Amino acid sequence: MVIEVVVLTGAGISAESGLATFRGDDGLWENHRVEDVATPEAFVRDPELVQRFYNQRRQQLLNPEIAPNPAHVALAELQRAKPGKVFIVTQNIDDLHERAGAEVRHMHGELLNIRCMACVQIQRTSHDVDETTQCSYCGVQGQMRPDIVWFGEMPYFMGEIEHALAQAEQFVAIGTSGLVYPAAGFVAQAKDYGARCVEINLEPTAVSSIFDQGYYGAASEEVPRWVETLL
Ligand code: OAD
Repeated sequence: MVIEVVVLTGAGISAESGLATFRGDDGLWENHRVEDVATPEAFVRDPELVQRFYNQRRQQLLNPEIAPNPAHVALAELQRAKPGKVFIVTQNIDDLHERAGAEVRHMHGELLNIRCMACVQIQRTSHDVDETTQCSYCGVQGQMRPDIVWFGEMPYFMGEIEHALAQAEQFVAIGTSGLVYPAAGFVAQAKDYGARCVEINLEPTAVSSIFDQGYYGAASEEVPRWVETLL
Protein backbone atom coordinates (compact mmCIF):
# COMPACT_ATOMS: atom_id res chain seq x y z
CA MET A 1 0.00 0.00 0.00
CA VAL A 2 1.43 3.39 -0.97
CA ILE A 3 1.14 6.17 1.59
CA GLU A 4 -0.60 9.26 0.21
CA VAL A 5 -0.65 11.57 3.19
CA VAL A 6 1.77 12.06 6.08
CA VAL A 7 0.41 13.99 9.04
CA LEU A 8 2.70 15.40 11.73
CA THR A 9 1.03 16.66 14.88
CA GLY A 10 2.31 18.66 17.85
CA ALA A 11 1.03 20.03 21.13
CA GLY A 12 -1.29 22.53 19.39
CA ILE A 13 -3.69 19.77 18.31
CA SER A 14 -4.32 18.87 21.95
CA ALA A 15 -4.51 22.45 23.27
CA GLU A 16 -8.28 22.67 22.82
CA SER A 17 -8.62 19.36 24.66
CA GLY A 18 -7.18 21.08 27.72
CA LEU A 19 -3.52 20.02 27.57
CA ALA A 20 -0.95 22.82 27.73
CA THR A 21 1.47 23.32 24.83
CA PHE A 22 5.20 23.64 25.56
CA ARG A 23 6.01 27.13 24.30
CA GLY A 24 2.72 29.02 24.53
CA ASP A 25 1.79 31.52 27.25
CA ASP A 26 1.72 29.46 30.41
CA GLY A 27 3.15 26.54 28.38
CA LEU A 28 5.02 23.71 30.10
CA TRP A 29 8.43 25.21 29.27
CA GLU A 30 7.38 28.55 30.73
CA ASN A 31 6.98 26.95 34.14
CA HIS A 32 9.69 24.27 33.98
CA ARG A 33 13.22 24.26 32.62
CA VAL A 34 13.78 21.64 29.92
CA GLU A 35 17.17 20.86 31.50
CA ASP A 36 15.45 20.06 34.83
CA VAL A 37 12.79 17.62 33.62
CA ALA A 38 13.34 16.51 30.02
CA THR A 39 16.91 15.27 29.67
CA PRO A 40 18.62 12.01 30.69
CA GLU A 41 21.01 14.11 32.83
CA ALA A 42 18.09 15.60 34.75
CA PHE A 43 16.81 12.09 35.52
CA VAL A 44 20.21 11.02 36.86
CA ARG A 45 20.51 14.21 38.94
CA ASP A 46 16.98 14.33 40.38
CA PRO A 47 14.81 11.33 39.45
CA GLU A 48 12.13 12.34 41.96
CA LEU A 49 11.57 15.73 40.31
CA VAL A 50 11.42 14.18 36.83
CA GLN A 51 9.01 11.43 37.92
CA ARG A 52 6.82 14.00 39.66
CA PHE A 53 6.65 16.11 36.49
CA TYR A 54 5.52 13.13 34.38
CA ASN A 55 3.26 11.72 37.13
CA GLN A 56 1.43 15.06 37.11
CA ARG A 57 1.18 15.05 33.30
CA ARG A 58 -0.15 11.43 33.38
CA GLN A 59 -2.78 12.17 36.04
CA GLN A 60 -3.86 15.26 34.11
CA LEU A 61 -4.25 13.20 30.92
CA LEU A 62 -6.40 10.69 32.80
CA ASN A 63 -8.71 13.42 34.13
CA PRO A 64 -12.19 12.55 32.77
CA GLU A 65 -12.52 16.10 31.41
CA ILE A 66 -9.69 15.54 28.92
CA ALA A 67 -11.01 14.18 25.62
CA PRO A 68 -10.17 14.26 21.91
CA ASN A 69 -11.40 17.34 20.02
CA PRO A 70 -12.76 17.64 16.44
CA ALA A 71 -9.21 17.81 15.04
CA HIS A 72 -8.31 14.37 16.43
CA VAL A 73 -11.66 13.02 15.25
CA ALA A 74 -11.24 14.39 11.71
CA LEU A 75 -7.80 12.78 11.35
CA ALA A 76 -9.18 9.43 12.51
CA GLU A 77 -11.98 9.76 9.94
CA LEU A 78 -9.46 10.53 7.20
CA GLN A 79 -7.44 7.47 8.14
CA ARG A 80 -10.55 5.27 8.11
CA ALA A 81 -11.62 6.66 4.73
CA LYS A 82 -8.25 5.85 3.15
CA PRO A 83 -7.12 2.58 4.71
CA GLY A 84 -3.33 2.20 4.77
CA LYS A 85 -2.77 5.52 3.01
CA VAL A 86 -2.64 7.99 5.89
CA PHE A 87 0.45 7.86 8.11
CA ILE A 88 0.13 9.91 11.29
CA VAL A 89 3.21 10.69 13.35
CA THR A 90 2.89 12.71 16.51
CA GLN A 91 5.34 14.44 18.81
CA ASN A 92 2.65 14.28 21.48
CA ILE A 93 2.88 11.89 24.38
CA ASP A 94 -0.87 11.94 25.08
CA ASP A 95 -3.23 9.25 23.75
CA LEU A 96 -5.92 11.52 22.28
CA HIS A 97 -5.34 10.37 18.69
CA GLU A 98 -5.93 6.76 19.76
CA ARG A 99 -9.01 7.71 21.78
CA ALA A 100 -10.43 9.30 18.62
CA GLY A 101 -9.80 6.01 16.79
CA ALA A 102 -6.57 6.74 14.88
CA GLU A 103 -3.40 4.70 14.65
CA VAL A 104 -0.35 6.89 15.22
CA ARG A 105 3.41 6.65 15.72
CA HIS A 106 4.59 8.43 18.85
CA MET A 107 8.06 9.65 17.91
CA HIS A 108 8.62 11.15 21.39
CA GLY A 109 7.21 8.19 23.33
CA GLU A 110 4.02 7.90 25.40
CA LEU A 111 3.02 9.19 28.80
CA LEU A 112 1.14 5.97 29.59
CA ASN A 113 4.22 3.84 28.90
CA ILE A 114 7.11 3.27 31.28
CA ARG A 115 10.35 1.48 30.49
CA CYS A 116 12.53 -0.68 32.67
CA MET A 117 16.17 0.41 32.49
CA ALA A 118 17.22 -3.06 33.67
CA CYS A 119 15.45 -5.27 31.10
CA VAL A 120 14.35 -2.60 28.53
CA GLN A 121 10.73 -3.88 28.48
CA ILE A 122 7.95 -1.34 28.13
CA GLN A 123 4.74 -1.59 30.15
CA ARG A 124 1.53 0.40 30.20
CA THR A 125 0.61 2.29 33.35
CA SER A 126 -1.97 4.73 34.62
CA HIS A 127 -0.30 5.02 38.01
CA ASP A 128 2.34 7.26 39.53
CA VAL A 129 5.89 5.96 39.22
CA ASP A 130 8.63 6.30 41.83
CA GLU A 131 11.72 4.53 43.19
CA THR A 132 9.54 1.72 44.62
CA THR A 133 7.86 0.85 41.29
CA GLN A 134 8.65 -2.68 40.21
CA CYS A 135 9.07 -3.91 36.65
CA SER A 136 6.29 -6.38 35.88
CA TYR A 137 8.62 -8.28 33.51
CA CYS A 138 11.90 -8.71 35.42
CA GLY A 139 10.74 -7.74 38.91
CA VAL A 140 13.57 -5.26 39.50
CA GLN A 141 12.57 -2.28 41.64
CA GLY A 142 13.52 1.37 41.11
CA GLN A 143 14.53 1.13 37.46
CA MET A 144 11.35 2.35 35.77
CA ARG A 145 11.52 5.59 33.77
CA PRO A 146 8.92 7.38 31.64
CA ASP A 147 9.07 6.04 28.09
CA ILE A 148 9.54 9.56 26.82
CA VAL A 149 12.21 10.62 24.34
CA TRP A 150 14.12 13.34 26.15
CA PHE A 151 16.35 15.99 24.61
CA GLY A 152 19.57 14.32 23.51
CA GLU A 153 17.85 10.95 22.88
CA MET A 154 16.93 9.40 19.53
CA PRO A 155 13.26 9.71 18.53
CA TYR A 156 11.35 6.53 17.71
CA PHE A 157 10.25 5.29 14.25
CA MET A 158 12.69 7.45 12.27
CA GLY A 159 13.17 4.81 9.53
CA GLU A 160 9.44 4.30 9.10
CA ILE A 161 8.81 8.06 9.03
CA GLU A 162 11.47 8.62 6.37
CA HIS A 163 9.93 5.84 4.28
CA ALA A 164 6.48 7.43 4.57
CA LEU A 165 7.77 10.92 3.71
CA ALA A 166 9.39 9.53 0.57
CA GLN A 167 6.01 8.23 -0.68
CA ALA A 168 3.62 11.00 0.35
CA GLU A 169 1.79 13.22 -2.12
CA GLN A 170 0.84 15.51 0.72
CA PHE A 171 2.49 16.41 4.03
CA VAL A 172 0.62 18.33 6.70
CA ALA A 173 2.01 19.72 9.97
CA ILE A 174 -0.59 20.51 12.62
CA GLY A 175 -0.08 22.50 15.83
CA THR A 176 3.68 22.33 15.97
CA SER A 177 6.06 25.27 16.34
CA GLY A 178 8.70 23.89 13.97
CA LEU A 179 11.43 24.50 16.52
CA VAL A 180 12.33 20.97 17.59
CA TYR A 181 14.29 18.69 15.26
CA PRO A 182 14.13 16.19 13.69
CA ALA A 183 10.33 16.78 13.36
CA ALA A 184 10.86 20.41 12.30
CA GLY A 185 12.87 19.12 9.33
CA PHE A 186 10.14 16.80 7.98
CA VAL A 187 8.59 19.56 5.84
CA ALA A 188 11.87 20.17 3.99
CA GLN A 189 12.32 16.41 3.50
CA ALA A 190 8.75 15.95 2.25
CA LYS A 191 9.20 18.87 -0.12
CA ASP A 192 12.45 17.39 -1.49
CA TYR A 193 10.55 14.17 -2.15
CA GLY A 194 7.90 16.12 -4.08
CA ALA A 195 5.03 16.35 -1.60
CA ARG A 196 2.65 19.29 -1.39
CA CYS A 197 3.08 20.73 2.10
CA VAL A 198 0.33 22.23 4.24
CA GLU A 199 0.66 23.90 7.63
CA ILE A 200 -2.24 24.14 10.10
CA ASN A 201 -1.56 26.34 13.11
CA LEU A 202 -2.96 29.22 15.10
CA GLU A 203 -0.29 31.37 13.47
CA PRO A 204 2.64 31.10 11.05
CA THR A 205 5.66 29.32 12.54
CA ALA A 206 9.46 29.25 12.25
CA VAL A 207 9.22 27.05 9.14
CA SER A 208 6.07 28.46 7.48
CA SER A 209 7.88 29.75 4.40
CA ILE A 210 8.64 26.17 3.28
CA PHE A 211 4.94 25.19 3.13
CA ASP A 212 2.86 25.56 -0.03
CA GLN A 213 -0.30 26.44 1.87
CA GLY A 214 -1.36 27.40 5.38
CA TYR A 215 -4.62 27.12 7.29
CA TYR A 216 -4.32 29.58 10.18
CA GLY A 217 -6.81 29.22 13.01
CA ALA A 218 -7.83 26.77 15.72
CA ALA A 219 -7.02 23.12 14.92
CA SER A 220 -10.56 22.05 15.89
CA GLU A 221 -11.87 24.11 12.95
CA GLU A 222 -9.03 24.08 10.44
CA VAL A 223 -8.23 20.35 10.55
CA PRO A 224 -11.82 19.26 9.69
CA ARG A 225 -11.79 21.91 6.93
CA TRP A 226 -8.56 20.50 5.47
CA VAL A 227 -9.75 16.88 5.83
CA GLU A 228 -12.88 17.77 3.85
CA THR A 229 -10.71 18.73 0.88
CA LEU A 230 -9.34 15.17 0.78
CA LEU A 231 -12.60 13.27 1.14
P1 OAD B 1 5.03 23.86 20.95
O1 OAD B 1 4.49 24.24 22.29
O2 OAD B 1 6.43 24.23 20.64
O3 OAD B 1 4.14 24.51 19.80
C1 OAD B 1 2.74 24.39 19.79
C2 OAD B 1 2.22 24.98 18.50
O4 OAD B 1 0.82 24.79 18.46
C3 OAD B 1 2.48 26.49 18.34
O5 OAD B 1 3.02 26.73 17.05
C4 OAD B 1 1.08 27.10 18.50
O6 OAD B 1 0.91 28.25 17.66
C5 OAD B 1 0.20 25.97 18.02
N1 OAD B 1 -1.14 25.98 18.61
C6 OAD B 1 -1.51 26.24 19.88
N2 OAD B 1 -2.83 26.10 20.06
C7 OAD B 1 -3.34 25.74 18.85
C8 OAD B 1 -4.65 25.43 18.37
N3 OAD B 1 -5.70 25.46 19.17
N4 OAD B 1 -4.79 25.12 17.07
C9 OAD B 1 -3.73 25.07 16.24
N5 OAD B 1 -2.46 25.33 16.64
C10 OAD B 1 -2.27 25.66 17.93
O7 OAD B 1 4.76 22.28 20.78
P2 OAD B 1 5.44 21.25 19.77
O8 OAD B 1 5.77 21.89 18.48
O9 OAD B 1 4.60 20.03 19.78
O10 OAD B 1 9.38 17.41 23.06
O11 OAD B 1 6.78 20.92 20.54
C11 OAD B 1 7.67 19.99 20.00
C12 OAD B 1 8.40 19.25 21.09
O12 OAD B 1 9.03 20.18 21.97
C13 OAD B 1 7.51 18.43 21.99
O13 OAD B 1 7.19 17.17 21.48
C14 OAD B 1 8.32 18.34 23.25
C15 OAD B 1 8.77 19.76 23.33
O14 OAD B 1 9.91 20.02 24.05
C16 OAD B 1 9.91 16.75 24.10
O15 OAD B 1 9.53 16.91 25.25
C17 OAD B 1 10.98 15.79 23.72
